[in-house]
Amino acid sequence: MSQEPSPKQASRMTIASIAKLYQQGHRIAMLTAYDYPTARTLDEAGIPMLLVGDSLGQVMLGYDSTVRVTMTEMLHHTKAVVRGTSRALVVADMPFLSYGVTPEASLENAGALLSEGGAGAVKLEGGERSAKTIEAIVRAGIPVMGHIGLTPQSIHQLGGHRVQGKTREAGRQLLTDALAVQQAGAFAVVLELVPEQLATVITERLHIPTIGIGAGAGCSGQVQVVTDVLGMSAEFTPKHARHYAELYAIIKAAAETYRDDVASGAFPGPAESTRMDEATLDGILGRTALDRPEMVEASRGIPLDRDL
Ligand code: KIV
Repeated sequence: MSQEPSPKQASRMTIASIAKLYQQGHRIAMLTAYDYPTARTLDEAGIPMLLVGDSLGQVMLGYDSTVRVTMTEMLHHTKAVVRGTSRALVVADMPFLSYGVTPEASLENAGALLSEGGAGAVKLEGGERSAKTIEAIVRAGIPVMGHIGLTPQSIHQLGGHRVQGKTREAGRQLLTDALAVQQAGAFAVVLELVPEQLATVITERLHIPTIGIGAGAGCSGQVQVVTDVLGMSAEFTPKHARHYAELYAIIKAAAETYRDDVASGAFPGPAESTRMDEATLDGILGRTALDRPEMVEASRGIPLDRDL
């Protein structure tokens, strides 16, 4: 694998450019993004793929799981991320039950994330069980990223955020799932919470990139939830995440200082205020020669200094 960061792209990344990075041996960095300013910053930093993950349910909307996220919410956030980017390939998550119920609804929802939301690809969860859905969406010309291992939309079935594929059967199923997703035409697959050795073997056996989250360093790329990487939460940080900044502490300290400055009158100061010409102010307040008694009528009852 190449030690070089993937080259910065002048035009928008496509699944073909992701395939090229993969073939050239570059490890691919992906982050989630949910809003315009963050997406813009990540895009300018040269992150080649941004995921509008349904993790937005927890990290942006305060839900207790991804299951609550709707198509309307995904579209709203996808549009903001697309507006904030000019280079990254934007991948939009298909929310719970927006796919896999009927082929028509799966296609319609995947299509909306591209045609209305502006995404360049969609991501959906499930291996073998989602293969037919992936195939139908890909056949319609919509790029699909798969997602296997821990699939948060099935959290009620999986019984918690546990590492997947740790037994003989579960490990074999994971391999089968990875191959099924590839066979169905996905351009890449997320491996979430998979033991490192198994994720490495899956990566070696596939000819599409694996994007790991909690799946070790052997994957073709990595994805992380941006709020974890930026240290934006005072609460839990998953074991697989590394803080590259401590924004929670920075934002909190800044807000406290602002609060105190407003209370003391230190904000705003001259630098943050605008002054006007004093003569104009005199005119507004009726302090000039023009404001003779005979002009009172023209002031139409505006309370001027001379009337007070
Ligand atoms: O929604 C999300 O953020 C994801 C990542 C965890 C891969 O699916």
